[in-house]
Amino acid sequence: MNDVASQSGGSEVLFQRFGRQAPAGTVLFREGDSGEEMYVIQSGRVQITVTVRGIERMLDELGPGEFFGEMAILNARPRSATATVIEEAQLLVVGAKTLEAMIRGNTEIAVRMVKKLAERLDEADRVIENLMLRDLASRVVHHLQGLAETAGVAATEGGVRIQTTPSEVSQAILVPLETVGDVFARLVKANLLKPEAGGAFVIPDPAAMGQFLEFLGMKARFERPLT
Ligand code: CMP
Repeated sequence: MNDVASQSGGSEVLFQRFGRQAPAGTVLFREGDSGEEMYVIQSGRVQITVTVRGIERMLDELGPGEFFGEMAILNARPRSATATVIEEAQLLVVGAKTLEAMIRGNTEIAVRMVKKLAERLDEADRVIENLMLRDLASRVVHHLQGLAETAGVAATEGGVRIQTTPSEVSQAILVPLETVGDVFARLVKANLLKPEAGGAFVIPDPAAMGQFLEFLGMKARFERPLT
């Protein structure tokens, strides 16, 4: 969406017309609000959160070039999440009519939005899959597998390096920290996970981790008492 700026005569002109500066801590809108505008981040960072059973859960953290708040205007529904500025931000505020004109006039913008929405759908599918797993250990391992696939970096010594901590995993999939810690310890002991300095882990053999997940599934299935 950065292209919005360049193709409409320069970002400064655009910022003067549609710009908004917001300090860290600004709540731009809350889940459930009605909304007639979307935002494009020029600088700074914005956190997207939802509240599930009274607990605030982070869906995403967005930075320059990314957009949010498009859903309420595209489907005429209340805001699906809360948007909070976490690092002072310069934002372009785009109304429904302008968004429609932008999409009609610039296929590049439309394609980028569709790609972003597809990414979110993919992520939502992953969350649903995770919630459908029977046991908590499987949910932890499945989440690590997902991180390796979507954000993992090939490690020089082989395997995939992921950047996370037990507490991040606990928050992401709403599994108690103690359980996540136990599963991590078990994975480390089985050489399926190697801790590194700075909140990183290497999965030396992702295929072996996949087999372990299958094993956990079998265990959960066959350990149920026979009735
Ligand atoms: P809207 O529903 O208008 O307001 C909340 C915004 O948060 C929403 O539009 C999207 O832009 C954004 N949003 C909703 N769900 C997610 C998600 N799962 N990941 C990232 N952003 C999201």
